Parts: sequence; C-alpha cells; structure tokens
Amino acid sequence: MSALLDPRRVKQDFPIFANNPGLVFLDTAASSQKPNVVIDRVSDYYRHDYANVHRGVYRLSARSTELYEGARETARRFLNAADASEIVFVRGATEAINLVVQSWGAAFLKAGDEVLITELEHHANIVPWQLLRDRIGFTIKVAPVDATGGLDMAAFESLITPRTKMVSVTQLANATGALLPVEAIIRLAHAQGAKVLIDGCQAAPRLQVDVRALDCDFYVFSGHKTYGPTGIGVLYGKRAILNDMPPWQAGGDMIETVTFEKTTFQQPPARFEAGTPDISGAIGLATALDYIESLGRAAIEAHEGALTEYGMDKLSRIDGIRLVPAGQRRFGILSFAVEGIHPHDVATLLDGKGVAVRAGHHCAQPLMEKLCLDATTRASLGIYNDESDIDALADALKAAQAIFAR
Ligand code: ALA
Repeated sequence: MSALLDPRRVKQDFPIFANNPGLVFLDTAASSQKPNVVIDRVSDYYRHDYANVHRGVYRLSARSTELYEGARETARRFLNAADASEIVFVRGATEAINLVVQSWGAAFLKAGDEVLITELEHHANIVPWQLLRDRIGFTIKVAPVDATGGLDMAAFESLITPRTKMVSVTQLANATGALLPVEAIIRLAHAQGAKVLIDGCQAAPRLQVDVRALDCDFYVFSGHKTYGPTGIGVLYGKRAILNDMPPWQAGGDMIETVTFEKTTFQQPPARFEAGTPDISGAIGLATALDYIESLGRAAIEAHEGALTEYGMDKLSRIDGIRLVPAGQRRFGILSFAVEGIHPHDVATLLDGKGVAVRAGHHCAQPLMEKLCLDATTRASLGIYNDESDIDALADALKAAQAIFAR
C-alpha cells in the first residue's frame, strides 16, 4: 500500500475497533467511523465552550461563535473555496441538494428548462429535482451509463443543450464506485451556460477536491461520511450565485430586520442557516477535516486507489463473484453479485464472520434497474482498511458459498 499512509496506525485512532474486536468494517460509503479526536472535540466543546452563536454579547458566546466560524474557514480550506462565505452548513449532502433545488431551482427554473442528471445518481440527487419539476414543469433528462458501467460521455454531451440550466451529477457513484469525469462534465455544461452541482458524498472523503480548479458552481458533501459527526454537511456555492438566491428556510439568524410587514435577509451564508445551527457538528466536522489533512489527501487517495485494485483482483479470483461494472475507473467501492445467493443473505453470512458490508439498492434504485439487478452486496473502503480486511471479506465470501453449495 501507499508508503505515506499506515492504515494499521490509523485504525488505532478509531475506538470502534478496540471496542469491537475482530470487526472488519467495509461500509464507509454508508457512514464512516469516527476518530478519537472528533469524539473528544465534540465533548470538549460542550464541556468548555458551549453557548449559542451569533447572539450573546458575553464572552462564552463570542468564543463559541469564533469556533463555529473557524469551522467554516476549515471547510473553505478543505475545498479550496475562495471565501468562507461560500460555505453553508447544512444537515448533510441531502439537505444541501434540497437547498439548491428549493432556493436556486425555484427562483431560476421555469417550464421548458432542462435539468440534466445521470443514471448513476442516488435518490438524493433525483427526488428533490422531481418534486420541483412537478410544481414548475421543467424537464429532467438522464444521461445513461455505457456498457462498461461508466457515464456515456457522448450521450451526455448530446443531452446538454441551450435549454439545460443545471447539470447535477455525482463525482463518485455510491452504488458502484464509478468515478465520473467531472472536469469534462463541468466544461461541457458551462459551454452551454448551465450551472453545475457536484455531489461529493463519496469523493470528498477519498479524493483531493479543489472547487476553484473544478470551477463547479455548487459542491456538496456530508460530514458523517467524512469521519465527522452525523447531522452536519457542507454546501459550497460560488459567492455570486449564493448572493442571488432567496432564503429557503426562515427563522432566526437568517434575518437582518423583521417587522410584521416586511423582513430583510442576511447575506450568505447566514441567509441559508435559519435557527440555531448544529454548532458542535460543525466543530466536530472541522476536526475531522483537519484529521484528514493531517494524514494527507494525496496519501489517502493513493492508499484507497491501491486497496481498490487489490480488492478487485482478490474478488475476481473467486468463482461465482461478479463485480458490478463501474466504468473506466472504480474507486473505493466494490459492488458485487454472488451467484445463487441473495445480497441480503450474503451480508448476513458475512456479518457472522465479523465483516460489515451493505446489501440492497444503495438508495440508487433507477441504477439497479438499469443494471438489471434488484440489489448488490457492497464493500466500501475507508482510511482504516487494509489488505487484511479484503482478505477477510474474500474468506467470508468463500465460506458463504460453501454453505450454499451444501
Ligand atoms: N448514500 C449512502 C450509501 O451509499 C446512504 O450507503
């Protein structure tokens, strides 16, 4: 594996493993485990620094506000955004996409417009657009996967037209691990004047992300998949675009002045953060992002890339196991079918051997239908995994096959 990242040492940072001896955790795509630094930071914050933010004139509240806004600056650095005001804290990637749909979409989309997504999206990047489409009457177009399981770029290009107002795509497909060429997608979309939202749920914890180099208009990711707490996530939006977007939820903190006749609103990001935010979540997330940086983003990418190759090789040597196609490049996620055994039975038998994987449609039912599958078994990698986890998976799969062969 990468000389730069030592997963055995990293594993020691995660107390879940000491507390569950023998656990082989291969479900990081659903949610990652949390390192001690994040768990400690959240409880330290409550013990030492907690008060509501942006409200109190007393020192404790000022300190809490400083920590919360410091977390925003950390998220800015993590994505290389130009300004911290381009970072909106949300509950997670799902809420981030709903925010863009309900604020930007409701304000700027009209009947006759087109929104382009792909067959590789999970439900969070399909259903919010459908709900708005049913109100407004724009068209959702879906770029297909090709025979290799990657995005059919020729079809994608032909589907972008001057009517396309938004291209909303995943960077790394959660159900199969297919990596999408987001740089090319963004270039093609911008050439037709469309905005681009990148769903970075699976990419942000694994790849080096630079929103300025990408030039995407929106980028979203979840804290809980990025070694941070649940209930917190990030929406990045270009400042000029956020400036033009109306509020989507209303309440405290997002207002400037309120009378019974009229209310005026804060500038972004406060305009999009109504009510008391998840302060401890943001601080915990910032600690997680710092932790990722301390391991090295390039080292993580190299480690997970090499481990993915190892896993593909190992699984492809087992008769009766078929990896679900994932295009030109599969990254961090191994989705597969075991001949003659339903994925739920596979996952249950693996659990009997201490191997935690996800089985099902992975919140991507249209993709499963396209691939003619009801469900798959999915092993997904994190920074604490190494070859021994893949070996344990392979051994447990062979044991499951042996049970069904009886
Ligand atoms: N999108 C999450 C997953 O892939 C829930 O498991």
